[in-house]
Amino acid sequence: MSTELQETVLKLTSLKPLVKGGVDSTGAQFLPESTKARFDKYGVDYSNGYPVAPDTSEIPVFVDEVLKVRNKEVPYIERGKNADPEKKALFGAAKEVIHLTKHIGTEIVGLQLSDLTDQQRDELALLIAERVVVYFRDQDLSPQKQLEIGQYFGPVEVHPQGGRVPLEHGGVHVIWMDQAKRKGFLKTSFKKTGGTAHWHTDLTHEFQPPGITHLHNDAIPNVGGDTVWVSGYAAFDKLSPAFQKFLEGKKAVYKSLHGYIDRENPLSGPKNIEREHPIIRTHPATGWKSLFVNRAYTTRIVGLEPRESDLILEYLFGVFEKNLDIQVRFNWKPTKAGLGTSALWDNRISQHYAIWDHEGEEPRHGTRVSSLAEVPYFDPGSKSQREALGLSLD
Ligand SMILES: [Fe+2]
Repeated sequence: MSTELQETVLKLTSLKPLVKGGVDSTGAQFLPESTKARFDKYGVDYSNGYPVAPDTSEIPVFVDEVLKVRNKEVPYIERGKNADPEKKALFGAAKEVIHLTKHIGTEIVGLQLSDLTDQQRDELALLIAERVVVYFRDQDLSPQKQLEIGQYFGPVEVHPQGGRVPLEHGGVHVIWMDQAKRKGFLKTSFKKTGGTAHWHTDLTHEFQPPGITHLHNDAIPNVGGDTVWVSGYAAFDKLSPAFQKFLEGKKAVYKSLHGYIDRENPLSGPKNIEREHPIIRTHPATGWKSLFVNRAYTTRIVGLEPRESDLILEYLFGVFEKNLDIQVRFNWKPTKAGLGTSALWDNRISQHYAIWDHEGEEPRHGTRVSSLAEVPYFDPGSKSQREALGLSLD
């Protein structure tokens, strides 16, 4: 490769990474006190920089290299399928089970995630599949335990370049917008939101996109920093039967957040990874249909003219974004100082939006573990949530 081309390729690859290869050498000094206390308690060594990331030489540069990272089906066990539908072991041990809205979001009070038995974990997986997102406040949770719980739910995703907690396993990702902004990787401001502050579903470009994702926030602003989730089951139920039928069996293209270089055409600029998935997918545990598109990463509907695709996708994004009755807004604050809060949601059946109203004035820091699930599929024999629950379809 000529020097000029090499320089261009290097320039292009430096455009988008959230953390450019290697450790963030100055990050540790900005770590919130509560995060440090958690890491100190559980022996996470951040003294050599934080977060860490693969060395630049290990970060894939070309699209075809990234596509090879996870391009073959890996076995996946749907834990929710084994569970007691009444969830007696989980609910029996909890102090309280609070449904936060009618259609989405449940908080479990009085249980430590780190103490759950496999039976309770299975029941939790089913509860997440039914309620879309489940919350646990006041958690004393090590990153190592969070990883282990994630591994129980499925193969844990390791990002080719994203910032991570310095552990042997690279699957504990750092969600720390404050630092990304400080480093200049994110331009998020009051007027222009971005980063995690927009409607999206995580990692939909994956061959097997994540099912359960677990974000544990260990630094939470006193005011604000909420997250909103919206149900894909309910979004599907908002559509007319004729429109549902039109969408069933169709596929869309889902792009990655990060860009890579096209080996055949390296000067054309960073290209996103793209994969096709069904627009309507069936959840393997509940058997319910869900609308699987999101504004951030779904780019076009396969087989339609671009203007048709744009029009329909815009409408579908709006179904998620404008219907407040199928959303839940959650404030992460624990009731006891020094403890964190966990949210476990199912990316197969939801979108989320992290509200950045605190504007980095107070620290917000979390660790995220994503468990990859099945290759998305649509079962024509499956039912919608409201149909299955015998609720009115009007
Ligand atoms: Fe996200």
